[in-house]
Amino acid sequence: MTTNTGLKLVERDSAGVDRAFRADVLAGLAEPQKAIPARWFYDDAGSQLFEDITQQPEYYPTRAETEILTERAGAMADLIGPGRAVVEFGSGSSVKTPLLLSAIAPSAYVPLDIAGDFLRAAAADLAAKFPGLPVYPVEADFMRRVELPGAVADLPKLGFFPGSTIGNMIARTATDLLRSMRETLGEGALLLIGMDLVKDEALLKAAYDDAAGVTAAFNRNLLTRINRELAGDIPVDQFRHEARWNDTFARIEMHLIAAADMTFTISGQRFTLRSGESIHTENSHKFTRRSAQMLLASAGWEPRARWADSAGQFLLLLAEACPPRSAP
Ligand code: TRP
Repeated sequence: MTTNTGLKLVERDSAGVDRAFRADVLAGLAEPQKAIPARWFYDDAGSQLFEDITQQPEYYPTRAETEILTERAGAMADLIGPGRAVVEFGSGSSVKTPLLLSAIAPSAYVPLDIAGDFLRAAAADLAAKFPGLPVYPVEADFMRRVELPGAVADLPKLGFFPGSTIGNMIARTATDLLRSMRETLGEGALLLIGMDLVKDEALLKAAYDDAAGVTAAFNRNLLTRINRELAGDIPVDQFRHEARWNDTFARIEMHLIAAADMTFTISGQRFTLRSGESIHTENSHKFTRRSAQMLLASAGWEPRARWADSAGQFLLLLAEACPPRSAP
């Protein structure tokens, strides 16, 4: 198992191009169903647009999860207990993380993120809000097992993974991640994880295609970023944003649809799209109570409790890392 901490994670060529970005884009656009990994959404403009998405009236998950953290803080604190080191997978949101930390009296806070700048900013923010709490940011790719700082080695852990980010992965990747979280956090760890619920298709589609067009702008920004960073001439205005429900996989998919036949160049390579052809850019899987618990169990996390918001739109689940067993 590869362990990493504090690595330089972006490799650039002599022209300053992020090699992984270029490789992903060129390979993804050469596939029969064109696709670009969603991690490339988040340049500065993309990160700002994403913040704006969470403020849209149609985008219910952030409000629903915040409601659960507020209304159920007491019940969560009882089950989690004081003195845990909270390990957050991702840099921490300005709203949700303080709600959790003030509910449970933790002994340390360890945000993990691949983006060092956001990580340090979020860590400084949190440290200012919780003066007595030791904060140990770790710059790492949490898709693999992470070496936690020695200072928290002997503390009981609580993993925190809000936002239904687990739903942005396909099942095998989600299972791999939940397993490496178990390895990162160790035996006896708890995990508090947000998962968005299956619901009326119109509500789901609206959440990923808001009337103000913010999600559409977020999706198209990926093309703008390709043009800027990878010497592209994609006609960005000729792409339409689409949020699609895939019933087989119980997920919302985001696509960019070509409005006309077109040819463009990226890093010297030519691509041709027919009118109506799509580039698949994101998945957001939705869960039922059962499928949520099944996913956790398949990665060695035994469900202990779950809470929904009052409208029944979103789940927060608490699970415990369990040693493997062969008997039923
Ligand atoms: N995980 C959240 C969700 O699927 C947030 C998110 C990730 C998102 N990528 C997105 C929201 C793209 C809108 C568009 O809802």
